[in-house]
Amino acid sequence: MKVLLLGSGGREHALARSLTSDPKVASLWTAPGNSGTAALGTNLGLDPCDPGAVATWASDNQIDLVIVGPEAPLVAGVADAVAARGIPVFGPTKAAARLEESKSFAKEIMEAVAVPTAKCRVVTTREGVSAAMDEFGAPYVIKFDGLAAGKGVAVTSDRDAALAHAGVALSSDGAAIVVEEFLDGPEVSLFCLCDGTNVVPLAPAQDFKRAYDDDEGPNTGGMGAYSPLPWAPPGLTTEVLETVAVPVVREMARRGTPFVGVLYCGLALTSKGVKVIEFNVRFGDPEAQVVLPRLRTPLAGVLLAAAEGRLDEVGELEWSDGAALTVVVAAEGYPTLAMTGGEVTGVEEAEDLEGVHVIHAGLRAADGGLVAAGGRVLCVVGEGTDLGEARDRAYQGVARISLRGSHHRRDIGSLAAGGGIRVGSDGAGPGDKRRAE
Ligand code: AMP
Ligand code: GLY
Repeated sequence: MKVLLLGSGGREHALARSLTSDPKVASLWTAPGNSGTAALGTNLGLDPCDPGAVATWASDNQIDLVIVGPEAPLVAGVADAVAARGIPVFGPTKAAARLEESKSFAKEIMEAVAVPTAKCRVVTTREGVSAAMDEFGAPYVIKFDGLAAGKGVAVTSDRDAALAHAGVALSSDGAAIVVEEFLDGPEVSLFCLCDGTNVVPLAPAQDFKRAYDDDEGPNTGGMGAYSPLPWAPPGLTTEVLETVAVPVVREMARRGTPFVGVLYCGLALTSKGVKVIEFNVRFGDPEAQVVLPRLRTPLAGVLLAAAEGRLDEVGELEWSDGAALTVVVAAEGYPTLAMTGGEVTGVEEAEDLEGVHVIHAGLRAADGGLVAAGGRVLCVVGEGTDLGEARDRAYQGVARISLRGSHHRRDIGSLAAGGGIRVGSDGAGPGDKRRAE
């Protein structure tokens, strides 16, 4: 199988790693890729957000499967253009990608099929924002109604800060703001593979969105993750499948915009049950880095089956019994204004450790070495028999990496590894590391 993968982050390196360990994959191209994907296949100077260019290249080069990593090419209509050439593509059409592109559209779909989610108001004026904040009370949750790479959301008890955040978007014409009820409880990311009709869930993961330890600081794309979740209620995946993913996939098909790709369900396990925080239409980054290495079923075959509407033929997926945990090493200044260009050393030394590998994110090769080329520079992944071992290994790896001014969280998976996360009926409990600023 000849595979074309779109994207250039850690998620794409993790996908490339799993794809090239599938014996069915004869060759892999990544556009534009990074130094990690370059070592596993060929990087292409092709704009992943140009539908015509991607479709033409895939067709000219007899590609058997196109896999879209990030949301931007999906929203640009790349999957539509590739599918129009008769090439299987793993990733939703532009119309189906609205589930991530527009938070108000996602809310509309959830309302239509009674998926449990935070109550919300979509408003376009400062007065509207203020009234919705009064209705739901603090902590305030204010979201921009468009793509913002995880940075368009403010969760804060500071009324002025909430209004200021809303004001940034309201200053542009026609911008809508989503004001939501605050959801308590630990967060879970569950990726569901969809072929338009059938849904196959992957193992759940937890992501750490805030920049600094103890969930301090601004929201980021994600600073670390682990999987599986030893504290998750046993029926969680089945419950999410039945109450969230399947109804949404059915509704999208009913509307004539079937969903093919990853339906990423961002969930809060609240004191009042599981609720959807958001949908994304692609694998999470860095959650993919911990979910994919645990998958024993060869990945390319599964994604091709999804792209061809044959997920019902795939059967139960096989998983390793162990755990995986990843820590993101970010450049100085991330997420506000990341300093790029710094030299990164210690990657090979980290990979010398048992059960450790390094996923390249904003990294590129230069002068025989590696330099930081983005905010999230790399992810050290530890695998072990349990979460504690995976965590120790990941942090031993991180200790071998150096990049001047870089920062990383020191508490990824620490509560979970210590048995400190509770999902209960008594409110958030000590496991709720998410809180308002
Ligand atoms: P989103 O861009 O919708 O994923 O939001 C980013 C992060 O903000 C989430 O991962 C949560 O940590 C937090 N968040 C979003 N919506 C809510 C909510 N309704 N209640 C509490 N936290 C939220
Ligand atoms: N890690 C969160 C995301 O990929 O959106």
